[in-house]
Amino acid sequence: MTSNTDNNRKVLEARAKELVFPPGFVFGAATAAYQIEGAPDADGKGESIWDRFCKVPGVIADASSGDIACDHYHRWRDDIAVLNAMGLSAYRFSFAWTRLIPDGKGAINDNGIAFYDRLIDDLLSAGIEPYATLYHWDLPQALQDRGGWYNRETAEHFAAYAAVATRAFGDRVKKWTTLNEPWTFCWSGYASGEDAPGFKDGTKGGVIASHHALLAHGLAVPVIRQTVPDAAVGIVFDLNVTEPASEDPRDIAAARRFDGAQNRWFLDAVFKGSYPQDMLELYADLLPPIHADDNATIAAPIDYLGVNIYRRSVMAEGEELAPLNFQRVSPEGTYSAVNYEIWPRCIYDILHYVNDNYAPKEIVISENGVATAPETVSEDGHVWDDQRATYYVDHLEQVAKAASEGVPVNGYFAWTLTDNFEWAYGYSTPFGITHVDFHTQVRTIKYSGEIYGQIAQQARSIPMMKTGLGR
Ligand code: FCB
Repeated sequence: MTSNTDNNRKVLEARAKELVFPPGFVFGAATAAYQIEGAPDADGKGESIWDRFCKVPGVIADASSGDIACDHYHRWRDDIAVLNAMGLSAYRFSFAWTRLIPDGKGAINDNGIAFYDRLIDDLLSAGIEPYATLYHWDLPQALQDRGGWYNRETAEHFAAYAAVATRAFGDRVKKWTTLNEPWTFCWSGYASGEDAPGFKDGTKGGVIASHHALLAHGLAVPVIRQTVPDAAVGIVFDLNVTEPASEDPRDIAAARRFDGAQNRWFLDAVFKGSYPQDMLELYADLLPPIHADDNATIAAPIDYLGVNIYRRSVMAEGEELAPLNFQRVSPEGTYSAVNYEIWPRCIYDILHYVNDNYAPKEIVISENGVATAPETVSEDGHVWDDQRATYYVDHLEQVAKAASEGVPVNGYFAWTLTDNFEWAYGYSTPFGITHVDFHTQVRTIKYSGEIYGQIAQQARSIPMMKTGLGR
């Protein structure tokens, strides 16, 4: 190690020591079923849209799939060991709907329930709180065959699935998230087609799917509450503070439209009980039928909002997704392996944006992290991902600052626990705080994971006080 690198690490570790979070602040790591589990047809699991989509030539950068991924289905104990070694007290994961209900509706697969029983029991014995997400993009293919999120009935099937999952696990799981990132799975799945099911139907596709997804959320909330009265129920949105690329009124208007599509459409619906008027007007010819009580259903009160945040959005007028007509501008700066600008302030800005405009009871940063090029384990047994370690300290400083200013953010989940299948990027852009050797399945906690774990441990041991990293 050069003395320069050595110094940089010392400075970073000193900054990590200075971080102060509110008492009880939760530090965890997040994953999603399709990205880690593998075992796509083990023990009665049904086919999902991602199982199907990955077989389409050309859609995944390295022609890979989640067929094996981290083999978490067989190695969940290794992943709990990693959480434990880092001293994290919470784990956000998703159920594969098709493990529990292979066709999306109807018959229940007891083997699928048994798998998550084992996972949950082992998490709890390790003192790690499970944060369960019902839907992280792997729709049952059988429901896709009936229209997927274009079909309003999918929302009802989702609520029935929520009943099955909460009955099975609600005695032990108290943190429930309905959907992960409806903007992404609706728009990348149905408008631009980069994600499963791969439809390129433009804005109309995104709008129709997102209404039904939000309806699914709204129908599921009371179902979860009924089965698990002491549950905390939330939804996870991917949000970006949107900035216009210039003072030009056309760029300002484009940024406002993008903000309307990605942020306000979802937040207004859940927190204000109606879609934003400007977006209803813009989408006028593209909307699915919205029934009289849909708005009230979608606005069922929630206990926390999960925010996934990776970047800011700088927008100019352009031609993408008419009538949204925006184009993303990339300001000069540093970019991650998936081309996201590294801009730590994004997390502070989005926390204030959400708090100022919607005042959720509680906010959790449900995902934040950075992609790099694939890494290797060095001879000394380390993965020196200094860029990622710096990213976490930089972003956690911004979270701590927002919390100190009164924003009710009470948790942070690193994306992601282990290197895994990153959707259309395959395995080419790892996000993990733990390295996975995909030939041997050996897990190695990276430098970022060591620093992050120490931040979690120091916050846990002496709340409200500055404590010593590695002391
Ligand atoms: C989010 C997804 C998550 C992962 C990260 C990098 O949009 O929720 O599954 O792909 O991005």
